[in-house]
Amino acid sequence: MIRTWRLDDSRQTLVLGSQKDHLAEVVYWGPRLPDGENLEALYRANAIDVTGGMLDINPELSICPEATRTFPGQPGLKLRAANGAMLLPKFCFDAADEGCDRLALTFSDQANGLTYMAEFEIDGQTHVISAQASLRAAEPVFLHWLSAPVMPAPQLSDEMIDFAGRWCGEFQMNRTPWSPGMRYRENRTGRTGHEHFPGLIVPCRGATNATGHAYAFHYGWSGGHRMVAEELPDGRRQIQFGHATRVERDAQTQFQTAPLYAVFSDDGINGCAVAFQRHLRDRVVIWPKPDAPRPVHYNCWEAVYFDHNLPVLKDIASRAAKLGAERFVLDDGWFGNRDDDTRALSDWEVDPRKYPDGLTPLIDHVHGLGMSFGIWFEPEMINPDSNVFRANPHWALGSEDQILGRQQMALNMALPEVRDFLYERIAKVLSENEIDYIKWDHNRVLPMPEAAQTRGSYELLDRLRTVFPAVEIESCASGGGRIDFGILRRTQRVWLSDSNDALERLKMQHNAAIFLPSAVTGSHVGPRSCHTSGRVLDIRFRAWVAAQRHMGFEMDPRELTEDEAEVLSDVTSWWKANRAWMQRADILRLDSADPAVVAEQQLAEGGGRFVVFAGKAATSDQIAPRPLRLTRLTGDAMYRVELVNRADVPKLSRGTPLLKSEPVDLSGGYLMNHGLTLPWSFPETMWVIEGARL
Ligand code: DGJ
Repeated sequence: MIRTWRLDDSRQTLVLGSQKDHLAEVVYWGPRLPDGENLEALYRANAIDVTGGMLDINPELSICPEATRTFPGQPGLKLRAANGAMLLPKFCFDAADEGCDRLALTFSDQANGLTYMAEFEIDGQTHVISAQASLRAAEPVFLHWLSAPVMPAPQLSDEMIDFAGRWCGEFQMNRTPWSPGMRYRENRTGRTGHEHFPGLIVPCRGATNATGHAYAFHYGWSGGHRMVAEELPDGRRQIQFGHATRVERDAQTQFQTAPLYAVFSDDGINGCAVAFQRHLRDRVVIWPKPDAPRPVHYNCWEAVYFDHNLPVLKDIASRAAKLGAERFVLDDGWFGNRDDDTRALSDWEVDPRKYPDGLTPLIDHVHGLGMSFGIWFEPEMINPDSNVFRANPHWALGSEDQILGRQQMALNMALPEVRDFLYERIAKVLSENEIDYIKWDHNRVLPMPEAAQTRGSYELLDRLRTVFPAVEIESCASGGGRIDFGILRRTQRVWLSDSNDALERLKMQHNAAIFLPSAVTGSHVGPRSCHTSGRVLDIRFRAWVAAQRHMGFEMDPRELTEDEAEVLSDVTSWWKANRAWMQRADILRLDSADPAVVAEQQLAEGGGRFVVFAGKAATSDQIAPRPLRLTRLTGDAMYRVELVNRADVPKLSRGTPLLKSEPVDLSGGYLMNHGLTLPWSFPETMWVIEGARL
């Protein structure tokens, strides 16, 4: 007997089928099929042929490939009985629960007492498919690996793109050609990590940012993931995502993967990006005040580091407010005897040497300036040199002789007493002070990956969020070490990188936009001379790069010249005037003809207005700027296009392109097919172009 199911939205169809009670397989995923498609015929037509050197029937590439069915690739499940014996499950169909946008399929293996369930949900508005697998066992079992429902990868694709990175260098794209065998990425650091962002793009041949078919995946989990992108000997391709292997220490009776977010796009990689951006912003993040504008941040880290001095901080706050900041975030250094990064993590009590009257005088001052107040914590961490460690050395995760990271250990978040302790300390600070924001840091990798650790962190966050629902949280881990949809279910902003170098940020922001909308992506104007790269960048470039996302400042405002302060105030005012629509805009990566130009177009909901940020990351090879093609405009509509910062045209630009002197009315067709001819510019500068449909 053949069973089939389909999930549709306006742009895609996902078809699953199963025969002989076997586990289901995805037999079609792509552009929407006609309503009348005969799914049984499709299922049967999908079967691949058999020739010499093959099994007599091809084992299905199911949503959880089973080793017992001579599957020639990586299985979707690996587990052992409590006595250590390997289990080789073989599942049979139990039930299908079909809703209009969701499907839950249950299969069981009676011999081994196992039940496997896969759930799919399609979001008709964002076009994201969420897929999650769970496993129940009659007796406790040891789990080695459980994949989220396995998806096929397209055949007409020559390469896959995934993301690596490092401290101050997040979201670097890797392109790997498809070939027989697998690309295996496993993050065993116990946090999402700079090194292995859990995402994958599979563009079909010829796809660009703006056109063509592309598939993309994101695994929404903060404890480290495993990805397998495998081409089987017969040519079929599978994508598996799940928690890193062997992260469940104990034998248990229930397991669940995190959601795998999967997207098909028929309009380029931007189609995937827009789906993820909207889904994250409108479905995943829980906003305390959904309609409130994102406030301009000031963060004092790179201004004072651990050297907290009340009059200095007040002065900095006053200057930041004058520049346009609306939220002051007090970073590391306010608690215990935290004079440097060797001590006091977990001693979450205000340092009376630095704040003899508590935080109130600073908070009152900040509020008096019309700003709200945020504060830094690194809850999951402990320094051996801390009062809490001296009293509770057994709270630390991992062995005594483990290698420290930034002189610190992780707390064992699986212990309820650790979570209670953290909850009480954080809740006390939040209750005794008017604080509406936490920057939540996580500055070391774990001694070993453990899913219970991540669950413990989630539980603490959830508890705090329930009791303090108005407090927003920013996820930071030495910059972008914990960015994923799992943490963003509990937080509202990410610190993309510890690099405030606008040149590096320009590129990182460009790539991160495939997953992250502007509203959650923190971006700060750093010091003139960047603390992490040594690069000296003009304030205009620094300010505009920060204005591409959720804007903030992080330099010591006392270093600003009058001219710099004026530029910064102006750009900040521009950002404030535009943020309402920009925080709901789609970020579209432009296909730049000049590799030196990293450009994006933020298109408002409804398409009536846009802004283009064209960053010059290097000196171009050719002498004159190549036209920059825009995207997703209406071909026969007219747009008024204006170079916002045309006053910044350098003297070496001697020609007369119209944009240099006045707004220009051009059709969407021209802008998309020929593109905008921008004035010549120096490297490390940004052109900002506003457009409005007439
Ligand atoms: C690492 C973060 O990424 C920085 O922004 C800052 O908060 C420091 N930790 C504080 O120790």
